[in-house]
Amino acid sequence: MSKIGWPGALPPIDRNSIVPIYRQIYEGLRESILAGTLPESTRLPPERTLAVRLGVNRSTVVRAYRELVADGLIEQRVGSGSRVVPTLRTGQPERSAAVPWWVTLPPWRVGEFPMVLGELAAKQEPGRISFVQGVAPDEPSPLPELAKCFSRVAADPRIVLSYGDSEGYEPLRAAIAHRMTDRGARTQAKDVIVLTGSTQGIMIVAQSLAEPGDEIIVETPSYPGALQIFQICGLRAIPVPLDDDGMRVDHVEAILRTRRPRFIYTMPSIHNPTNVTMNADRRERLVTVARRSGIPIIEDDPYGELAKNGNPPLVGLAPDYVVYLSTFSKTIAPSLRVGWLSAPRTILERLLLRKQAHDMATSLYVQAAIRDYLQSGYDAHVAQLREELFARRAIADEAIAEHWPATFRTSKASGGFYLWVTTPREIRARPLLDASERQGASFLFGEAFYANSGGDHNLRLALTAVPRNEIAEGIHRIGVAIARVRS
Ligand SMILES: Cc1ncc(COP(=O)(O)O)c(C=O)c1O
Repeated sequence: MSKIGWPGALPPIDRNSIVPIYRQIYEGLRESILAGTLPESTRLPPERTLAVRLGVNRSTVVRAYRELVADGLIEQRVGSGSRVVPTLRTGQPERSAAVPWWVTLPPWRVGEFPMVLGELAAKQEPGRISFVQGVAPDEPSPLPELAKCFSRVAADPRIVLSYGDSEGYEPLRAAIAHRMTDRGARTQAKDVIVLTGSTQGIMIVAQSLAEPGDEIIVETPSYPGALQIFQICGLRAIPVPLDDDGMRVDHVEAILRTRRPRFIYTMPSIHNPTNVTMNADRRERLVTVARRSGIPIIEDDPYGELAKNGNPPLVGLAPDYVVYLSTFSKTIAPSLRVGWLSAPRTILERLLLRKQAHDMATSLYVQAAIRDYLQSGYDAHVAQLREELFARRAIADEAIAEHWPATFRTSKASGGFYLWVTTPREIRARPLLDASERQGASFLFGEAFYANSGGDHNLRLALTAVPRNEIAEGIHRIGVAIARVRS
C-alpha cells in the first residue's frame, strides 16, 4: 500500500477564536481530507511534531487526532503513526460509502462546555454529599400547597388540555407585572412574556439581539448556563470583573470606548455564583452607560426576590434599555420550567416570534397552578426560604471556620443559594474536587463560570442542594480532602 508523505500545509489556527484550538486543528484536517488535499493513506505528522510546528501542546493534537479517528477519517497504529484511511478497501465495502453525514456538520461551537455542564448534572453517588446543583432546598417545601393549586386548576379542561397564548396565561402575566411593580419596576401584563424556564429567555435574547461573531459583555465569573448559550450562538464574550459592589462598571466604560458589544449580560441581584448584589450607585451608572452608548442590558434576576432589602431591579431604572429575565425555578422549583421576561415594547414581537418557534407556549396547566399559588402560599413560602438560606449560610460559615485553613477565602455576601470560594495559590480546584469526591463530597469547580479562562482557584458550593443537616459534614469532608491535597 502506498505511503504518501505529508504535503506540508498546516491547519490554520486562530488564537482569538472562540473555537478551541484542538477543534480548529480537527476541522482543518477534516476539511483537507474531505477535499482530497490530504489523499487516502497520507501519513499525518507525529503528534509531537505537529504540536511543535503549530506551537500547541501535544495533548491538543492528540485530541484533534482522536476526533478524526472517531469520524473514521484517519487510523492510528502503534509504531506506524496516523494516516488517512484508505476509502476503498476490498472486503470492507462500508468504507467506500460517502463520508458520513455527521462528519460534515457545521462547527459545533460548544468547546469545553459539555464536559463542564456534565459536572453540573450532579453525579448522584450513594453516600456522597453533593453541593453541585443550584436547586431550591428540600425544606421549606412548596409541595403541600402547590399540590392543592394543581388540583384546583385541574378542574378546568380549557386550562389542562389546551396550548394557551404564546405570550403566556394572562392572569399570570398580570400577577407577575404586579409583583415587579411592587419591587420598584413598573410593569404591565402586556410587557411580559412567560417562558419555559428563564434559560429559554437567555437563548431567545442571544438569538434575537445578536448574530454569530458579535461581541457581548458578561461578568466574570458568570452563570455557566448563559455562557454556554452565548457560545453555542457564536457570541464572543468580553469578561468584566465584579467586586463586592457588583459589576465593575468602569471596566464596561473602558470597553465601550473602543468596542461595540451587542448587549451587557448581568445578574445585579444575588449574583450566581458569588451572591454579590450591585449597589445603587453602580446600578445608576450602568444604566447611564447603556443609554449613552445605546447598548441594551440583559438583567438576569432569578434570585432577586430572595433578597431581604433588595434594590429595585435595573429594569425599573431604564425600562427602555433593559430586557429583564426571571424564573420560579429558585423560589418554587425548577421542575415547573416557568420563567418570564419583560422587554421594551419595540422588541417584544421579535422576542415573541422566537418564543413561538421554540415551543409555541409554556404549559398552561403549570402557569395556572403557579398563578393560583401566587395568590395563596407563595409569599409565606418565599419568606421562609429567605430565612432558610441565611441559616444554611451560617452553618456553612461555622463549619468552614472549623475545618478549612484560613487561606481559603469565601465571598462575603450571603442570602443566595451559593458559596463562592477562592483557594490559596498552591491548591487548584480540580485536584481538590477529585480528592473531595474520594472523601464523599462534591462541588463545582470554578472554570465552569469563566467565559474564556480562569477559575482554576475557585469552587462553588450550592448550599441548597443537600439536606441542611449534611452541610457541616460535607464541609468537613472537603476539609479532609484539603489536608490530603496539601500533604
Ligand atoms: C443566573 C441564572 N439564570 C438562569 C437560570 C436558569 O433558570 P431556569 O430554571 O428558569 O431555566 C439559573 C439557574 O441556575 C441561574 O442561576
